[in-house]
Amino acid sequence: SAHGPLTGRHVIVTSGPTHEAIDPVRYIANRSSGKQGHAIAAAAAAAGARVTLVSGPVTLPDPPGCDVVRVESARDMFAAVERALPADVFIGAAAVADWRVDVAPQKIKKEKGARAPVFSLVENPDILAGVAGGARRPRLVVGFAAETQDVIAHAREKLIRKGCDLIVANDVSEGSGVFGGDANEAHLVSRDGVESWPRLAKAAVATRLVGRLADILATCEAA
Ligand code: C5P
Repeated sequence: SAHGPLTGRHVIVTSGPTHEAIDPVRYIANRSSGKQGHAIAAAAAAAGARVTLVSGPVTLPDPPGCDVVRVESARDMFAAVERALPADVFIGAAAVADWRVDVAPQKIKKEKGARAPVFSLVENPDILAGVAGGARRPRLVVGFAAETQDVIAHAREKLIRKGCDLIVANDVSEGSGVFGGDANEAHLVSRDGVESWPRLAKAAVATRLVGRLADILATCEAA
């Protein structure tokens, strides 16, 4: 495998959406292609890290050099992340569904004249907050924030609330072309401040992010 600034490090990345079953044939999900998370996993592997990519359902090929664990639901994703710990870095790039449905064991039938079913939602665990607050907290915990307004203020709030070290914030408002697209306009938000990057290909965002993480780890070690 590649030798680079992350050689000897273990990096866990979550990517893609989660699917929360309603019944055996239906689900609710978040909108996510997995492109950014997969690109980060590939970049971390190219930088020499051992990478565990925990991926929800996506149509992307497995990135080269990564151990890929495929999951469906948020709870499955959390369990897979916990099995993969310990790690030096955790990057939560998945679009995890905030709620799940109490699953019906059989397909819900559409009966003539019957009322539409009503679902009550149950809150899913927050994987990022759980990892950041857990006993085996990686040295660096990185989250994503997809916002449509006040991008940086919301990212700062998320950083504190979830206990992470960095938030990669981006504007997903209509017309930004971020969803499913190949480019991202990211702001790297930490307790020290904000670094705003120009519009870059998702692969370039991944390479930059991995470079910054390697620098931060090296600085921690030197201190
Ligand atoms: O709160 P919000 O969903 O906007 O936060 C986004 C960040 O939190 C992302 O890094 C996402 O992967 C993570 N997250 C998570 N588990 C959840 C919800 C969000 O890990 N249940």
